[in-house]
Amino acid sequence: MGDFNKIANLCKSRGFIFPGSEIYDGLANTWDYGPVGVELKNNIKRAWWKKFVQEAPASYGVDADIFMNSKVWDASGHTASFSDPKMDCKSCKTRHRADNLIEVHAKGSVNPDLMSNEEMEQYIAEHKVCCPKCGRCDWTNIRNFNLMFSTSRGVTEEGQNLIYLRPETAQGEFVNFLNVQRSMRAKVPFGIAQIGKAFRNEVTPGNFTFRTIEFEQMEHQWFCKAENSLEDYEVYKKKAWDFLLSIGFNSENLRYHDHDKLAHYAKAACDIQYKYPIGWQELNGIHHRGDWDLSRHQEYSGKSMLYLDPYTNEKYIPNVVEYSIGADRLTLAVLCEAYEEETLEGGDTRVVMHFHPAIAPYKVAVLPLQKNLSEKALEVYTKLSKYFMVTYDEAGSIGKRYRRQDEIGTPMCVTIDFDTLENNTVTIRDRDTMEQIRLSVDELVNYVNQKIAY
Ligand code: GAP
Repeated sequence: MGDFNKIANLCKSRGFIFPGSEIYDGLANTWDYGPVGVELKNNIKRAWWKKFVQEAPASYGVDADIFMNSKVWDASGHTASFSDPKMDCKSCKTRHRADNLIEVHAKGSVNPDLMSNEEMEQYIAEHKVCCPKCGRCDWTNIRNFNLMFSTSRGVTEEGQNLIYLRPETAQGEFVNFLNVQRSMRAKVPFGIAQIGKAFRNEVTPGNFTFRTIEFEQMEHQWFCKAENSLEDYEVYKKKAWDFLLSIGFNSENLRYHDHDKLAHYAKAACDIQYKYPIGWQELNGIHHRGDWDLSRHQEYSGKSMLYLDPYTNEKYIPNVVEYSIGADRLTLAVLCEAYEEETLEGGDTRVVMHFHPAIAPYKVAVLPLQKNLSEKALEVYTKLSKYFMVTYDEAGSIGKRYRRQDEIGTPMCVTIDFDTLENNTVTIRDRDTMEQIRLSVDELVNYVNQKIAY
């Protein structure tokens, strides 16, 4: 596993992730996915959708708008209490999250999530927690800042309405509960999944793409009967874990972390944490939310959220088990997990990204041994690119081309040589073992398909 600096450098040089608006000196904590990164992230999103929608017959996908009626955020509680406790350094005028300052200082000996603002202020004063920017200990009191980005909408200056960029995708699933249930003739228990952008005006301490102000979430709400909800919560804990293993995570780098503090309506909540180079951090959450979300929407919208059980004629508001994971935070974990600096026989080194073939940006690189073989190589490239993302490279020595592919994690390199012209066979080099086999061009599609199945 590499540290964030090494991974960020590789990401920039190899086209995974670039700093946002870089030619204008950037915009803090914004990042753009490059040609290689967008493939990786799309494959991760596809793998998630496959597990939680395609292979889950009782789950349905939606794609709700980013903008929602502002009453949604009143009902969800975001307008009133979606905030971070922040304090300003009076000396250098930088703003910081009080809970982050304590977390870094206490190194796990106390949990700021369990503290009130007054207790955090007291801790910071007593332990002389100083400003990480200038080193002084001269703080304002804590103030809570709402994390939602707002903008206004309206045709005239006077008639402007305040609207928000959604801070989570979940509400798009809750407000469509009845639409999905009726249009798909769904019976409880069933699920609604969504992948989409979310925005939070967070103070972020760097750490590459770990915490950003714009990010994508993959969220799944499971609507179920109260009496089955704790059992279903356990099922989703396991499903979330198994999904991570299925895309190549080592279980040693994952752990469950039960929440110390539960929302008043919740019966249980936990995260799955990943061992990032900065330590164990939240990768995803699984939350038992009771019937709170649908009840609140019933109260604020005035529309009934009751479900009529067609078998028992019972009417009730279902409970919800929520599973939520950031696509960018998962992509970062995948990059950390895949990264290896390997020392080869003879002392040479290579950086290799051991992505699971199913999520690797490119499945195959087609490499003609010499430029005068490019016509045949392009023929093979065209054939394969109908089925998979394939890259083509004819520049530089074959050794250097292999290294480039190792660095972007391409699982298979197909080399075209003079024998290919004679007998239509190619060499396939495996990224991880570097072993090579010879295969007919006609067998390539099947061979690659077998390798990338999961
Ligand atoms: N609907 C529940 C919800 O939004 P959350 O714990 O605030 O819960 C869920 O967010 C997941 O979204 C997190 O586990 C993390 O993977 C991702 N996430 C949250 N805030 C993020 C941020 N600022 N940058 C990147 N990912 C973030």
